Amino acid sequence: MIVSRTALAAVLVAVAAPALRAQQAVYVVKQLNDYASGARYSGAKNPAAPSRNGAMMLTIAKRLTPEEMAAVASYVQGLR
Ligand code: HEM
Repeated sequence: MIVSRTALAAVLVAVAAPALRAQQAVYVVKQLNDYASGARYSGAKNPAAPSRNGAMMLTIAKRLTPEEMAAVASYVQGLR
């Protein structure tokens, strides 16, 4: 599927996704690992206030291999 940058930006704003451009790779890898392990994302533990946003990232992170996390983190750090 091909999505324009403008359309993608609109979706990311709509779901309140944080800007990652130039974020440190070590930070991104840590957040992805924390989503994957459940260390980050409190929605599941608090059904009264579930975080759909955290759930999205948990789903994404769980499907990434350590190599893929490192690769995408390196890419993010290089964005200017
Ligand atoms: C290459 C794909 C992606 C990567 C590497 C990525 C990475 C990250 C990282 C590192 C964070 C934590 C940011 C921080 O702590 O400041 C985050 C949070 C978030 N991302 Fe993604 N993300 C990706 C795709 C997406 C997509 C496609 C969406 C939604 C359509 C999305 C929505 C969000 C949201 C809503 C949060 C905040 C969740 C929260 O409250 O914890 N992300 N993402």
